[in-house]
Amino acid sequence: MISGKTRFVPLLAHPCRHVRTPPLFNAECERQGVDMVMVPLDVRPDMLEQTVASLQAVENVAGMVITIPHKGSMAALCDRKVGAAELVGACNVVRKEADGRLTGGMLDGEGFVAGLRHEGRDPAGRRTLLVGAGGAASGVAHALLQAGVADLTIANRSSEKAEYLARQLAGFFPHARVVAGSAHPGGYDLVVNGTALGMHDGDPLPVNPLELDEGSVVAEVVMQPDMTPLLIAAEARGCHIHKGIHMIEQQVQLLVDFLK
Ligand SMILES: NC(=O)c1ccc[n+]([C@@H]2O[C@H](COP(=O)([O-])OP(=O)(O)OC[C@H]3O[C@@H](n4cnc5c(N)ncnc54)[C@H](OP(=O)(O)O)[C@@H]3O)[C@@H](O)[C@H]2O)c1
Repeated sequence: MISGKTRFVPLLAHPCRHVRTPPLFNAECERQGVDMVMVPLDVRPDMLEQTVASLQAVENVAGMVITIPHKGSMAALCDRKVGAAELVGACNVVRKEADGRLTGGMLDGEGFVAGLRHEGRDPAGRRTLLVGAGGAASGVAHALLQAGVADLTIANRSSEKAEYLARQLAGFFPHARVVAGSAHPGGYDLVVNGTALGMHDGDPLPVNPLELDEGSVVAEVVMQPDMTPLLIAAEARGCHIHKGIHMIEQQVQLLVDFLK
């Protein structure tokens, strides 16, 4: 029940039709007995700074959850960043402290890895191709390395972003091989789509499914639609598929813990 004491957690996205986090987050708050509620707000990129400043001034805002396309810009608006957010320069959750300052975190990657483990697919030791170098992909890359992936190739449309991310992570995980490369998926045990491709009708596939090794795991961050064209093609190819919804299902508890 929403009351005058309920703390508000807006989810900032643009567009916001695709988001699936609010019902899961609100159910997790109810399960934990935490009096917070999430509602999606459709915020254009040119209005982000102004919106965040206004929300910062609202007393009962606990923080914000951030998704496409705002994760990088939001990191620049935080007073401080913690954990993976500091390293990858992107955040998907912001806590408003008692003095109004904003602390940014990045829990996408932890959620992704927890989702893999929950489905019995520990990523440790898997030769991995990650397509994407945006907010979600950066968090996923960091968490995969932390979880024991020792060989990670990052491919992105804007190759300079993949190169920058690979350099940052290689410095932080010196024992792993982290490189920017092409999106050819042959020879990998784990192939992750960390881009937004698959959300919209007519999107190109992030990798050529005919190049996927049979028996490899093909994982999505995109959760709407539930079965993306990549997952459909990968299943037909004989791969094990891992849906984007697993990432948010495992992440909601982390988000509530960060904000409560
Ligand atoms: N399952 C979950 O829990 C969860 C959590 C967070 C996010 N997500 C999903 O993850 C996706 C990405 O979100 P984000 O926050 O990371 O967004 P973002 O920071 O804007 O990054 C978007 C990424 O997609 C790539 N991309 C976009 N359009 C492309 C195109 N036409 N061709 C090739 N690459 C393209 C971008 O490449 P460039 O760098 O070249 O632009 C970039 O790597 C969204 O679908 C979001 O809903 C899911």
